[in-house]
Amino acid sequence: MAIAHDLVVIGGGPAGYAAALFASASGLDVGLVEESKLGGTCLHVGCIPAKELLETASVLRTVRHASEFGVMAGDPVVDLVISQERKQKVVDGLFKGLNGLLASREVTLYAGTGRLGVDHTVTVDGADPAVLQAPHIVLATGSSPRTIPGFDIDGTLVVTSDELLSITEVPERVAVIGGGAIGCEFASMLCDLGSSVTLLEALPEILPGCDADAAKAVRRAFKKRRIDVHVGVQVHGHDPDGPATTVRFGPEGDAGAVEVDLVVVSVGRRPRGDAAGLVGTRVEVDDRGFVVVDDRLRTGEPGVYAVGDVVATPQLAHVGFAEGMFVVRDLLGEHPTPVDPATVPWCIYSHPEVAFAGLTEAAAREVGHDVVVSSHRFMGNGRAMIVGDTDGLVKVVAEKEPDGRAGRILGVHLVGPWVTEQLGQGYMAVNWEATVDEVAAFIQPHPTLSELFGETVLSLTGRSLHG
Ligand code: NAI
Repeated sequence: MAIAHDLVVIGGGPAGYAAALFASASGLDVGLVEESKLGGTCLHVGCIPAKELLETASVLRTVRHASEFGVMAGDPVVDLVISQERKQKVVDGLFKGLNGLLASREVTLYAGTGRLGVDHTVTVDGADPAVLQAPHIVLATGSSPRTIPGFDIDGTLVVTSDELLSITEVPERVAVIGGGAIGCEFASMLCDLGSSVTLLEALPEILPGCDADAAKAVRRAFKKRRIDVHVGVQVHGHDPDGPATTVRFGPEGDAGAVEVDLVVVSVGRRPRGDAAGLVGTRVEVDDRGFVVVDDRLRTGEPGVYAVGDVVATPQLAHVGFAEGMFVVRDLLGEHPTPVDPATVPWCIYSHPEVAFAGLTEAAAREVGHDVVVSSHRFMGNGRAMIVGDTDGLVKVVAEKEPDGRAGRILGVHLVGPWVTEQLGQGYMAVNWEATVDEVAAFIQPHPTLSELFGETVLSLTGRSLHG
């Protein structure tokens, strides 16, 4: 006989475990099926290990520049074996915490692959074989790295983020294919660690989805750091030769090549829409692998939702959290407001960091807004000078009122030191639909990096202090 729950969640990554925790906090009896490790990509081969290793890179950079502050630390070297142990300790600590949390909330865990069939039945194959049934099901099967023809992932010469996050030696020369969030974070990290990095991006600019000025600022900063950035290139293939390989690229007829010791493929992530069976159900999977949902994340099968990387919304852990909580509130009949993909916060942890929320200048114009923009550089900011990190800018996009004045804030785009920790007020401004005048009335503490956001908004009122 099937084991009955109020809700069964398939997939224990951020979207799935958020749904499970929130549902149990709402008094529901929850079963959570996970075939690998709780925490998913984010905890084991994504956000957490990547940011932990980026922190190693940041410490190394700081020590390298210590003598500018009169702190004589010598010539630092990195021991990636120790870095990896530290990374693993952070991951293990969070993993233990997550397991403890789910146990204390009395979420029933099933180790195995869950397959949804007819009548809301979930068959679990694996360590804990079982047949489950629930009136509500949440599909949260996530995504895996995409690959490209001609670049078979062998785990040593050609890798994706899955393997790169476990390296114990710094490669001398690296080609990173794809200049999105993952590619830029890895290019930045490897450059700090001492690799010579070539970044190959197919589109005319790196960081698609970011405001053009923000992407340009990162590309310039990368160039200054001697990362060899090529945009608008096609990658044709590679020719391995012993422990190295030559990556061929270039527009047709203008071929380039670079010999490297490691190729990192970061060309996006493929949703795992087909990972949970679905045979005999009305759940639809599109040709890209996404589970098809409406704006309330409902699939074609009544009572079955899908959340996280497996649906076509931004593939971000925090969007997964928000979607996981949303569907629980929806199935409880609380009529929550759907997550608006256009206004979610984005944070990229390269050096310089990137953070934004809301519309880019181009997207705002495209959807018909008349806009005014203002941007200010960190170069003149006191705190940025103090910390010795002045690359980057703040750009605010606001709606233009009929009288020509700046009104509602539509987008906030930050590049520079610790901007991932500074996005909060920009995110709030966009999502609270605040106006420039309202935000300009707030005081920014001095001296802080966040003064630059205040200054940029103030300048949009028509009067400013510094520029
Ligand atoms: P992405 O879709 O953001 O970027 C992939 C890049 O590769 C694009 O710029 C694309 O034009 C380029 N590309 C595709 N095929 C190519 C080819 N054959 N040659 C050269 N360039 C090619 O995907 P990414 O960076 O792999 O990240 C996957 C997902 O994970 C994204 O949705 C991303 O937002 C998310 N993510 C977010 C992070 C963050 O916000 N800090 C960190 C890591 C991942």
